[in-house]
Amino acid sequence: MKVSASFLSSKNIPKDLLALDKTDVDFIHVDIMDGKFVPNKTMPFSEMKNIYKYTSKRLEVHLMVSDPIDYIKKYAELNTECIIIHVEIDDPTKSLELIKKYSIKAGLAIKPNTPISDLVPYLPYIDEILVMSVEPGEGGQSFIEKSEDRINEVRDLLNEYNIKALINVDGGINDTTVKKCYNCDIVTSGSFVVCSNDFQEKISSLR
Ligand code: DX5
Ligand code: ZN
Repeated sequence: MKVSASFLSSKNIPKDLLALDKTDVDFIHVDIMDGKFVPNKTMPFSEMKNIYKYTSKRLEVHLMVSDPIDYIKKYAELNTECIIIHVEIDDPTKSLELIKKYSIKAGLAIKPNTPISDLVPYLPYIDEILVMSVEPGEGGQSFIEKSEDRINEVRDLLNEYNIKALINVDGGINDTTVKKCYNCDIVTSGSFVVCSNDFQEKISSLR
């Protein structure tokens, strides 16, 4: 199981990114919010792009935005492994095709109350599914219990359609809730890691 670390709840982003760089975490999960798809808004790209100064890890960019096109063009320039858009936006195919043009992995996130079957039309385009185990928009929330069933439903769907996409989970992941994510290939954890005083110990406990 791979681990991705979100710094959304970080109080000191440069310091925490430098500390994460010394761990064996696999990816840095970059949460982007536009104030429309979710109420909160993150810093502009002109500031966010400076992340490269503090981390050599590959990025997973989670776009919680209504119109991802401009964000994709910008975040594709960074050391980006995967760009994840939401299935709930208008015309996800347009964004998924643009991500693939950059030879970056395309991910599709799904909110806790969206039917898993909504993923079906996009399965041929995607390399990763991000199952949201909290309502997107802020760090530090509790894992929604039904997410275990939803992850398993996604695994069944991928098997049924013979699709190789990875399953990732995001929201409220800690050393207890991770046990419900046995069907995931990647787990994303924010406050459990970055609000602790031993990042490596927390990351190891997730593995
Ligand atoms: C929630 C974000 C998550 C969040 C994870 O909207 O997409 O990535 O930061 O943080 P924790 O682990 O604190 O729920
Ligand atoms: Zn996220």
